[in-house]
Amino acid sequence: MKYKITGGTILQMGANAALCPVQADLYVADGKIAHVGTLADDTDYETVDAKGLLVIPGLANMHTHAYMSFMRGCADDVSFDEWLFRRVMPIEDAMTGEDAYWSALLGCMEMISTGTTRITDMHMFKGDVPRAMRDAGIRANIGRGLVGDDLTTDGASRFREAMEEMAEYKSDLLDFILAPHAIYTCSERLLRQVNDKAHELSLGKEIHLAESRKEYEDCIKAHGKSPVEYLTELGFLDERTLLAHCVQLDGEDYRLLSESGAHVVLNPVSNAKLGNGAPNYLKMNQHGLRICIGTDGAASNNSQNLFHEMNYFSLLQKAQCRDPKIATAQETLRMATMNAGKVFGKKTGLIEEGYLADLTFLDMNALALTPANDIASALVYSANGSEVDSVMVGGNFVYRKKEFTAIDRERVLYETARIAKKYL
Ligand code: NI
Repeated sequence: MKYKITGGTILQMGANAALCPVQADLYVADGKIAHVGTLADDTDYETVDAKGLLVIPGLANMHTHAYMSFMRGCADDVSFDEWLFRRVMPIEDAMTGEDAYWSALLGCMEMISTGTTRITDMHMFKGDVPRAMRDAGIRANIGRGLVGDDLTTDGASRFREAMEEMAEYKSDLLDFILAPHAIYTCSERLLRQVNDKAHELSLGKEIHLAESRKEYEDCIKAHGKSPVEYLTELGFLDERTLLAHCVQLDGEDYRLLSESGAHVVLNPVSNAKLGNGAPNYLKMNQHGLRICIGTDGAASNNSQNLFHEMNYFSLLQKAQCRDPKIATAQETLRMATMNAGKVFGKKTGLIEEGYLADLTFLDMNALALTPANDIASALVYSANGSEVDSVMVGGNFVYRKKEFTAIDRERVLYETARIAKKYL
């Protein structure tokens, strides 16, 4: 489909990446942004009336586990170890692939309806999770979680699953990455093997890193190094590596991360809720780290709504630093759009000619956005996601006038309620 989106306000980036709302027509063709402005011949384009709507780059949730969506509220107000090892993991062990499919679809519905067009998802259900992403029409980097001592022995079946689902589901919208779970569930040997495979197959990598104080201290005890130093010495960190959390950083860690080119995805709500602390954004920024944002899974957030995450992140940083000038609305919005676009080399996160047509349309007459004296402020400090009217991914509407175009909403709600009853 070719679309001429007319009558709306388009959010572009100006000089120095400052936000720049313009009144202009926006043309979409072949899944990409064809033009912003006026086209002499637009006869082939279907007109989309965007009067009263603000069109922004689709938001990117760069760390989540959509299959956990039905676990919302299953393990609140407990310690990290209790949460992971005694609450979440037993449910994961009992879950079926079909359960994961419906749960992941529920997560995609929540994300799409709150303006997210792209996600990075680490999961453990071969084929079922990519199938949910495909059916939802969302753009995703998908990694089957890897754990164990060696990719050729105890880690072999998971790695094979990762390769098989990539072969079956890779598409324009679905990319695949290698996702070793964490340094405390993967051996040094396995991490080295994953790194070699990533280079051999030209794949990106994602890992949870420096999330809890225990992880940090255990790493010092086992290796005499911080988690960041440990991965640096393994040669694991590079521009195609995405590190989730990075709350427990110290000393040289910031410089090492900066020099490595690795991307950091912050999950402030999950970190706070599990009592793991808050990332030191000030230091990250001083060292020029590449920072994006994500929600983490619904078992630890309990929301998949990036408007909520952006708001919390910015306010938390201001409170923590006792400085209202830190984590500005514009910086925070860039984390969820432009910065994320630089991860795994996707042309997303900006509304410019040649970029992928991943767009979120917001109702500017929604009470919380009125009057929008400052667009970034409206999006980060006032919006709650309910203002999202329509969402386009790769030039197709997946959500239009608050209705899903491909997902059977009632069926997903029925199935996930049924699944939750089995385990919770
Ligand atoms: Ni996670």
